[in-house]
Amino acid sequence: MSPAGGVGGGFPAVRPRRLRRTPAMRRMVAETDLRPSQLVLPLFVAEGAAEPRPIASMPGVVQHTRDTMRAAVTEAAELGLGGVMLFGIPQSKDAEGSGALDPLGILNVAITDAVAEVGDALAVMSDLCLDEFTDHGHCGLLSSSGEVDNDATLEAYATMAVAQASAGVDLVGPSGMMDGQVAAVRAALDRAGHDGVGILAYAAKYASAFYGPFREAVDSSLQGDRRTYQQDPANVREGVREALLDVAEGADMVMVKPALGYLDVLHRVAEAVPVPVAAYNVSGEYAMVEAAAAQGWIDREPAILESLTSIRRAGADVVLTYWAAEAARLLR
Ligand code: PBG
Repeated sequence: MSPAGGVGGGFPAVRPRRLRRTPAMRRMVAETDLRPSQLVLPLFVAEGAAEPRPIASMPGVVQHTRDTMRAAVTEAAELGLGGVMLFGIPQSKDAEGSGALDPLGILNVAITDAVAEVGDALAVMSDLCLDEFTDHGHCGLLSSSGEVDNDATLEAYATMAVAQASAGVDLVGPSGMMDGQVAAVRAALDRAGHDGVGILAYAAKYASAFYGPFREAVDSSLQGDRRTYQQDPANVREGVREALLDVAEGADMVMVKPALGYLDVLHRVAEAVPVPVAAYNVSGEYAMVEAAAAQGWIDREPAILESLTSIRRAGADVVLTYWAAEAARLLR
C-alpha cells in the first residue's frame, strides 16, 4: 500500500500532470473562464477636448473627446464587452463639484452620447462621485472645519444620480464611500421615476496607492488622502460588512476595489452576497504591468490574461479593466 500521491513500486500513484499534457486537455478542465461579456471598459471623457490626450502613467489610455469616446463605445459593443464605465473631466471645478450635478456637465452629456451610440448593446455605467468635479479633489462636500461631510454629500449624490439617470445611464456607480450612499441614491432614483436604473456599488473600496495613475487621468486636485472614508487596506471583515450594507440598501451589484491586492476580500464578498460581484483592476495595477512590459521585464499579453483570470478565479463575475478591449481581442 502506498499513500495517495506517494511512491508505489517506484512510481507516483497519482499524476495530476496527465490533465495538463495538451492544450485541449487543459482547456477542457479549466475551472475559470474569461469572456468579453464579463469585462467593463472604463473611459475618460474630457470637456472641451479637441484631441484625445494621452495619460502618461497609463500608456494606451487617453482622455477622450466626446467623438472619440463614441467611437470607443461602439468598438466596445462590437467586441462584445459587458459595458463601459464613464468618468468625466470638467473644464472647471468648484468646492461643490457643481459640474457633476449639471445636466449639461461633461459626464451627463457623455452618458447621453454613449447611449445614443450603442443603445442597449452594452451596459452604460457612470462613476457617481464628486472628486473629478471638486477643486479640493475630495469625493464629497467639505464642512466648515474641512472634513468630508457625509450627509450633505448624500444630497449631492442624490441629485447627481437623477441627472445621470435622466441622461440615460443603465447603472450608476457610487464610488465615494459615504455611509448610506446606496440608500440615498436608490431613494432619489425611485422618487424621480427611475426605478429601472440600477446601482453598481463600489462597496469595499480601499484607500489605495494603486489609484495613483487615475489621479493623473482625471486631473485630480486632491491634497492629502481619503483615509477618513475609503477603507483601511488592513481590513477584510469590514469589506464584507460594507458589501452587505450596500446590498441591504438596494445595490444591484457590489464591487471590490482595487482587485489584485484584494483577492481575499473579493473571495469573501463573493461568498457573502446574493448579487453579482465586480472587481476593479485599477490604474496602478495596469501601469505596473505596462511599465514592466515596456522594459521587456514581463511578457505583456500573458500577464494581462493571467491578471484578469486571477480576478475571476477569486470570485468576480465582472472585471473593470483598462485592458477590456484588448483582452476581448486576445480572447477571440
Ligand atoms: C472615484 C474613483 C477613483 C477611481 C475610480 N473612481 C479614485 C479614487 O477613489 O481615489 C480609481 C480608479 C483607478 O485607479 O483605476 N471617482
